[in-house]
Amino acid sequence: MHKTAGDIRLMKGAEKIAAVTAYDYALASLCDSGSIDVLLVGDSAAMVVLGQDGTAGATVGQMCMFTSAVARARKNAMVVADMPFMSYQPGAETAVRSAGRLVRAGADAVKIEGGRSMAPAARAIADAGVPVMGHIGLQPQTSALSGGYRARGRTAEEARDLAEDARSLEEAGAFSIVLEMVAREAAEAVTRAVGVPTIGIGSGAGCDGQVLVLHDLLGIYDRISPRFAKRYAELAPSVSGAVAAYAAEVKGGLFPAAGHSFGMDGGEAERLAAAGAGNAGTGGGGSSPGPGA
Ligand code: KIV
Repeated sequence: MHKTAGDIRLMKGAEKIAAVTAYDYALASLCDSGSIDVLLVGDSAAMVVLGQDGTAGATVGQMCMFTSAVARARKNAMVVADMPFMSYQPGAETAVRSAGRLVRAGADAVKIEGGRSMAPAARAIADAGVPVMGHIGLQPQTSALSGGYRARGRTAEEARDLAEDARSLEEAGAFSIVLEMVAREAAEAVTRAVGVPTIGIGSGAGCDGQVLVLHDLLGIYDRISPRFAKRYAELAPSVSGAVAAYAAEVKGGLFPAAGHSFGMDGGEAERLAAAGAGNAGTGGGGSSPGPGA
């Protein structure tokens, strides 16, 4: 049985929560080894998978596709899907409908960005029976409109504001809250202010858990590399090296070797040659194996 919102909530104060983003079947399967508690289908997919400049361009349709791939892969972790920009801001009904699409695609819960102003959307989603995760601090969907890409909670006033936001999300029914790029001391204060777990990204060790973007953790995305995103591997050179080695072998005639292909049944090659099939101009249809070969 995989983890649920209730399990994540109970981890506060008992065990740190380890979350990582995932967007596709193969990597989600590798991530879901049992030690990860939450697979977050982040709208960071718009950047690291789709190559866009920010997250605001993600659509519900795209997020449903990523979510269904991750949900097919997971066995242990909870799957949380990001609700894309403008899929919940217009009002409660839009929010509930969008959340419903993500749940039908395989999400166990959804995440929305925003504090007090988004509490009504959080409440509507939670009341509809869909567990909801909040996300405050830096909010990438709207960061260009709200102060740009900078840490939040650097002043006492900002920290108090964040704690208010967190409390209103908790009251609205959020089961956990992501704190993105929040000053350490402010993140600790917010974590103390709420009864639900906080999951930090760039917000220090005082949060109840941590989340990282998988492509940062693996070292396979270089367009932005935030200071807080610790790289646990440098896979980019391995990937580029493997692909370059493949191309060189194709061009040098070294790949495929006999062991990478299939021969005809005994005597069939001779029959083919005797019939003259496969020679130019015979109309024999060529000699490449069919899809079932
Ligand atoms: O989209 C995402 O990957 C996220 C994380 C940065 C928390 O929201």
